Amino acid sequence: MTMPKVIMICKEASMTSGLDGLVAAETVLSEVDGANGRLIVRGAPLERLANVITFPEMVHRLFAGFFDPLPEPVELASRLGEARAEAFQMFAADRALLALPPLDAVRALTARVPDGDGLDTALRLLAATAVFLPAVLRLQAGQSPIAPDPPMDHARDILRMTGKAATDREVRALDTYLVTVAEHGLNASTFAARVVASTRAGLTSAALAGMSALKGPLHGGAPGPVIEMLDAISSAAQAMEWLEAALDRGERLMGFGHRIYRVRDPRADALKAAVRALSRDGGGHGGRLAFAERIESAALEALRRRKPNRPLETNVEFYTALLLEALGFPPSAFTGVFAIGRAAGWIAHAREQTLSGRLIRPQSRYIGPRPPLAA
Ligand code: ACO
Repeated sequence: MTMPKVIMICKEASMTSGLDGLVAAETVLSEVDGANGRLIVRGAPLERLANVITFPEMVHRLFAGFFDPLPEPVELASRLGEARAEAFQMFAADRALLALPPLDAVRALTARVPDGDGLDTALRLLAATAVFLPAVLRLQAGQSPIAPDPPMDHARDILRMTGKAATDREVRALDTYLVTVAEHGLNASTFAARVVASTRAGLTSAALAGMSALKGPLHGGAPGPVIEMLDAISSAAQAMEWLEAALDRGERLMGFGHRIYRVRDPRADALKAAVRALSRDGGGHGGRLAFAERIESAALEALRRRKPNRPLETNVEFYTALLLEALGFPPSAFTGVFAIGRAAGWIAHAREQTLSGRLIRPQSRYIGPRPPLAA
């Protein structure tokens, strides 16, 4: 159904703002079903993966067929642990890192991973994001980075490297998060990664492109502002007034709306369930969750009133904010944690593009003045 549209766009050189509705790649990795609010990752719906498999198992699922040989999940997890130790050796505390937003610091450090197309490079990149983010956070807090513990589970080790003695439920919550955000079709950062991979630049370059696209507030940079919104709304009773004033100023409500989903983003519910499970550990997460749910309802009501013809529902970022806050990450680090999970999707797409795709090189339509053709 969609393919003829691609051909028509190429032939007539017409333009679709934001490439809305355009099919730019075929993939075996995932389907984002916007009408039914369903995410399928390599044949399985998200709800059969989130809170069920670990992040290294998700990596195995995404990498299958793109690396040969690909070790079994247990061996892959062990190699990822070794790669974390290697990444820590590459970490060099540098004064310039202190002033950078955490994701920018992680991106600068990840650029030290030599480009390549093999599994070693892929694992180094997954390890780099996981090791560099906690190290940068500690450095910026005036603390020494903590070295990874290679045999430890990936999610538990990430929390440990932030200085946290995590409970099993917290480890499970971070694993759920990383699995939930690992892969999501041709989102802006994955598209950027595929464009770079299509030039045969290598996996590091592709992942760095993905990170650069991820940081914007319309994509992976939204959850920090979600916390700012929750903090600015001092009481649930005052929520509607605050939200209406923000919309009057022409602002977007962070954590709502999506290019593809016309119903609720299924990832929002996976993450909300993870926050709810965490609230059983106490620590005030239950009260924060109840407050956020009231703000969510008010925001959805305000958006329905303002945009009756544009379905705007809760997206992944709203409950990402609550989950990562409950795990003790500062809002400035949220996009960096997103990158730890999404790096798996970027790498899988980059490999798929390299193995089966052509150079991505669309056209632009010139709308400026033209000098007369020479006679
Ligand atoms: N709050 C208020 N209005 C909104 C919102 C929002 N969150 N989202 C869309 N709209 C409005 C737009 O202002 C626009 O109104 P108009 O037609 O009167 O100008 C209309 O809905 C359509 O908006 P578009 O920008 O065309 O929608 P698009 O598909 O390009 O945007 C996006 C999707 C960027 C996610 C948007 O919904 C948004 O900005 N949301 C807030 C930021 C956010 O939560 N980002 C995270 C997304 S999930 C992810 O990337 C991991």
